[in-house]
This record gives sequence, structure tokens and C-alpha cells, in this order.
Amino acid sequence: MRTPLLPPLVLVCLVTAAFAAATTPAQPSELPTAETARAIKRAEAATADLGRSLRKALMAEMAAGGPVGAIDFCHDKAPGIADAVAARHGVKIGRVGVRVRNPANAAGDWQGAMLEDFSRRAAAGEAPQALQQSRTDTRTNVLRHARGIRTEPACLLCHGPAVAAPVQSAIRARYPQDAATGFEEGSLRGAFWVEVPMSPTASAAATATPATAPPVTAAPVDHRVAIALSPAHAAALREEMRGQLMTLQGIIGGLATRDWKAVETLADARGPGTGGGRGQGFRAQLPAAWFDVARPMHMEYAAIAEEARNGKRVDAALQTLEAVVAQCTACHATYRIEERTNAP
Ligand code: HEC
Ligand code: HEC
Repeated sequence: MRTPLLPPLVLVCLVTAAFAAATTPAQPSELPTAETARAIKRAEAATADLGRSLRKALMAEMAAGGPVGAIDFCHDKAPGIADAVAARHGVKIGRVGVRVRNPANAAGDWQGAMLEDFSRRAAAGEAPQALQQSRTDTRTNVLRHARGIRTEPACLLCHGPAVAAPVQSAIRARYPQDAATGFEEGSLRGAFWVEVPMSPTASAAATATPATAPPVTAAPVDHRVAIALSPAHAAALREEMRGQLMTLQGIIGGLATRDWKAVETLADARGPGTGGGRGQGFRAQLPAAWFDVARPMHMEYAAIAEEARNGKRVDAALQTLEAVVAQCTACHATYRIEERTNAP
């Protein structure tokens, strides 16, 4: 469930000559045909859409009802969200887990084979969210595609090694056979899977309505949760945010020139205990769930400062920086400011 930031497409595309190959060891990959490449693009667009839609819904529910409320929401609405994405893109799509909460998400069939491959590659050190695999089933002319899902800090509340008691009992009530806890941050949580039809008519339809086109709706609606702030507090929060963007600029520049001192100073200044309007008076106006999104960001900044002091590995620092930005985008997808002159 990662937002639009997809890693560079490192395609592991196994265009098999026959369906039987799916169950036999992988053949050396051939170059994808143009049609296969198009189908992979559609699969990736649908995957990104599902990740984004689930994340957006989850964050809004967490803000409104906390994790306990969000569990009911996931139970009732997660399948419907997948159905809507499937309809929007003209594909079949879903999620599977390394261990599952909902038995309906257990990986069988081809999804299970790809997930096993992902587990091996993740254990060998590949980043879970960068794992992907595609195969065409030439018998039915369907592209089968999967992409790995990484356990992010925000997932630990409900899937981590130490799930809080009230959350745990809400999970047990809905999912008596739950096996989807104990995931460490950064581990492989599961995979998105997609089946894209590649028949000539389906491809023609796909060209007429590109998968990336936004759904046709009347006026754009802002579904984010509004936080009422006085004009002075709104201005202060926006100023803090612009400072966040400047910090990113400084850190990227520092990494590009290996100026580790600058990276350390900038990241330290954003570590835990530095955000959320501390000392500016609007902290009390922010919902508790705000800090569930902000806290991991401050922790990741601290990890970047630590890398600047000790490891000094650009790759590692950039990977952590991506996790910082994932928290920026998650929060921006969840909240907006509503200026009110009568707000406290
Ligand atoms: C508020 C609690 C909550 C949070 C936070 C949460 N999940 Fe889940 N997750 C659930 C529930 C409940 C289900 C079962 C949904 C269903 O019935 O289909 C689920 C199911 C899943 C599944 C499908 C496999 C399975 O176990 O059934 C995946 C994959 C998954 N979550 C990944 C994530 C990731 C990645 C994150 C963080 C970005 C995350 N979840 C955050 C509650 C949560
Ligand atoms: C916990 C929530 C949260 C986090 C984390 C967060 N932001 Fe924001 N940010 C907001 C909200 C809310 C707004 C106002 C959005 C609106 O009303 O449309 C905002 C607005 C902004 C703006 C616009 C400022 C202006 O002058 O209008 C920038 C730039 C920005 N954020 C950058 C960042 C960056 C960069 C990061 C991460 C390093 C980040 N933000 C992390 C909540 C957050």
C-alpha cells in the first residue's frame, strides 16, 4: 500500500511460451512484446490505484475512528475498494499476504507461486516494494502481474509485533483465525496481484480509455479530513510545512554532494520532538491520529541523521528519505486545513 512513488521499473518479465511454464522453473526472460509492455503498464497503474485508494481510506478512517474503528472499516469496505479499482481499470485485482488476516486473501494458484518467489528475494535483501513479476498466459491471453508490499511504520499498529490490546481484541472479534501480526517494519507483508486481459478487443478498449485516465466525475471533491485552525495558526502550520520542503531540498543537496555534516544538521533539526506546532499553540487543535502519521516521519529523520554520523551510505539515506516523504504524502492525502476566524 505505498503511494504513487513507485521505484524505477525493474521488470522481471517472464513471457512464457505456454501456460504450463507457470508451474515449471522460470525460463530465461524474453523481451516483452509491445502488447505485453502495455498490459504491464495497465497492471502497474491499477496496483498504484489500489494502493492509493486503500491508503487514503485507511488514513481517513484512522483519523475519524482510530485503529479500532478502522478495523471494522477494513472488514466491511476493503473488498469493495478492490472491486471499484478492478472496474475502473478493467482488470481483476486483489491482495495476498505472507500470513493472512482474512482467509479470503490466502495466496493460492499463481499468486502463491509469485509470492514465494518474492519471499525468497526479500530474504536475499531485495526491497519488498520493488519486487514484481509478470507472466502472460498465452492460452487465455491474460497477463498475470504481482508487486510486493512492504510493511511500513503505519502498518505496525495492526500488523506489527506488538499490537495494542484493544486493537488486538477488535481484530480477534472480526478475524478469529488472524495470522497477520508479527510483521517487522521493512519486511514483506504480501503482494498486490492483477490479471489484465490482453484480447484484441480488451486492448482496443484500453486504448480508448487509458488506465491512467481519472474517472469521469463532475467537480473534483476534496475528501480529506478538515482541521479547523485560526488564520494565525494556519499560517504558522503552513510556514512549518514550507520549512519541511526546504529541509528535503537541503538533505537531497547534501546527499548529492556527500556533505554529511549538512545532512546531519538538517535531519537532526526534524527529529522526534520537533514538529506538530510545538510552542506555537496549534498543537492542541491537531487530532491524535495526526501524530500517528507524523511520528514515524520524525523517527526516519533521526535515522538519516544517524546514517550521516556513522554509516554514510547514500543509498541507505535515500531509502530512508523516501520513507520520510511517504509520511508527507500520506498526511497530505488525509488532512487539509480549514481556516476559521472563530477557531481557537
Ligand atoms: C487499522 C488496522 C490496520 C492497519 C493500520 C493496516 N491494516 Fe492491513 N489489514 C487490516 C485488516 C482488518 C485486514 C483484513 C481486510 C479484509 O477483511 O479483507 C487487513 C488486510 C491486509 C492485507 C491482505 C492480507 C490479509 O492479511 O488479509 C494486506 C496485504 C495488508 N493488510 C497490508 C497492510 C499494510 C501494508 C498496511 C500499512 C500501510 C496495513 N495493512 C495497515 C487492518 C489494518
Ligand atoms: C502529519 C501531517 C503532515 C505531515 C507529516 C506533513 N505535512 Fe505538509 N501539510 C499538512 C497539511 C494538513 C497541509 C495543508 C494542506 C491543505 O490545507 O491543503 C500541509 C501543507 C504543506 C505545504 C504547503 C504549505 C503552504 O504554504 O501552503 C507544503 C509545502 C508541505 N505541506 C510540505 C510537507 C513536506 C515536505 C512534508 C514531509 C517532509 C510534510 N509536508 C509533511 C500536513 C502534513
